[in-house]
Amino acid sequence: MEQREQWNTRAGFILAAVGSAIGLGNIWRFPYMAAENGGGAFFFPYLFALLTAGIPIMILEFGIGQKFRGSAPLTLARLNRKWEWLGWWQIAVCFFIAVYYVVIIAWAISYVGFSVTQAWSGGAGDFFFGTFLGLTGSPFELGGLRTGIILPLLVAWIVTFLATYGGVKGGIERASKILMPVLLIMTILIAIRGITLPGAAQGLNYLFKPDFSKILDYKVWTAAYGQIFFTLSIAFAIMIAYSSYLPKKSDIVNNAFMTSFINCGFSLLAGFAVFGIIGHMALNQGKTVAEVAGSGGVGLAFITFPTAISTLGGLAPLFGILFFLSLTFAGITSLISINEAAISAFMDKFSMPRKKVVIIYTVVAAAISLVFATGAGLYILDIVDHFINNFGIVFGGLIEVILIGWLFNLKSVQEHVNAISEFAAGSWWLFTIKIITPLVLGYMAVMNLIGDLRTPYGDYSIPALFWLGWFVIILVVAGGFIFASLKWKDDQYLVKGVE
Ligand code: ALA
Repeated sequence: MEQREQWNTRAGFILAAVGSAIGLGNIWRFPYMAAENGGGAFFFPYLFALLTAGIPIMILEFGIGQKFRGSAPLTLARLNRKWEWLGWWQIAVCFFIAVYYVVIIAWAISYVGFSVTQAWSGGAGDFFFGTFLGLTGSPFELGGLRTGIILPLLVAWIVTFLATYGGVKGGIERASKILMPVLLIMTILIAIRGITLPGAAQGLNYLFKPDFSKILDYKVWTAAYGQIFFTLSIAFAIMIAYSSYLPKKSDIVNNAFMTSFINCGFSLLAGFAVFGIIGHMALNQGKTVAEVAGSGGVGLAFITFPTAISTLGGLAPLFGILFFLSLTFAGITSLISINEAAISAFMDKFSMPRKKVVIIYTVVAAAISLVFATGAGLYILDIVDHFINNFGIVFGGLIEVILIGWLFNLKSVQEHVNAISEFAAGSWWLFTIKIITPLVLGYMAVMNLIGDLRTPYGDYSIPALFWLGWFVIILVVAGGFIFASLKWKDDQYLVKGVE
């Protein structure tokens, strides 16, 4: 039996975990989510979700990954032979995220180039939807592959291929050590420019000003929980895989706190950067921030922000390049982790060498990601993203805390974690995992489900929502059970490795 790979240093592990957490979710999703869901009032549910679900689940996943030394399916199978399917469910979630996430990174790479000439200056919306994406009329109208997206897509796949092919130390840790510090410096530069611009205050005001009328709306809470799960990379197999490469004596609790706080601190920094510059644009155009910040989600990064950057005069190309490089770097380190979660699972289950798994996985995933590089890519991405986040991740997380919190001896995980950590996870930790998270998450998950059944998502047709949304969720769940039913290549592996 080969020794499991390990991180070289503690800092290397933290950088990789932070690299996974900080991603597209922090730069375009967080500022928009906060602004849309009550501004300053969003921070209460966000903080609540961070403290009662985010950090406790991070400790749980670091703890079981490190103790049971396996990818999510292997770790769950070691907890209980009957739970392996949940691990594969989470791997399926990773796979579906990977194939669209990479395409957003490809857009960001293209926009690094567009920044040089401010190619969007004739109108950022028309440029993005029309010239660049060639958006068709509906999700099933593919409209052919967009050659302008294929090349950056290839670049994104090659970089993540090299990182995962190089292994834990030589690939992933190395990539994180290079990309994360550069990302931080670039984002600080943009934030400094952002908050020192005339009009910045209005932008920040829009982002942070509390709208308490929204705080009782379950949708705001769902958005906050969804954002915390996505941004911390929890409940979709990643942090279990990453912590399975920790040495035997590794701090867990402090590492989990650090990873979570660095990630959320970075989100705030990105919020300052983005809304400072958007506030400046609003002042320039004599409009309110609400008027200019109109389009959300992908639109914020690829339409509103480019327009705002163009108001920076001679410095516009530089800040465009910095912003889209930040988005690219943040995205790449997260994509590496999403892929690694799946790669480690196949390596464990089929006892296959890393290099072989990485080649097969990358070729298959890259081929499927081409669907999102068509003229209908944005629609398909939007539907898959909605369903995977609201159902794949949320229900996967809910089942995880119920199984491990109630049907496993959670105290034994606590004892293990506390024996090796710099400070202890007290009874608050047991309470959050066993009681608070299942209750809040359970309520949200059910409300989400009812909401989607009552009011179909977006303006899409029912067949589109079925095949690209509900059916994807069926594939995730079925995939979980199918892979779990396959025989382990090396049955011994299931019991080996646990002290
Ligand atoms: N945690 C990653 C992100 O926020 C997936 O984008």
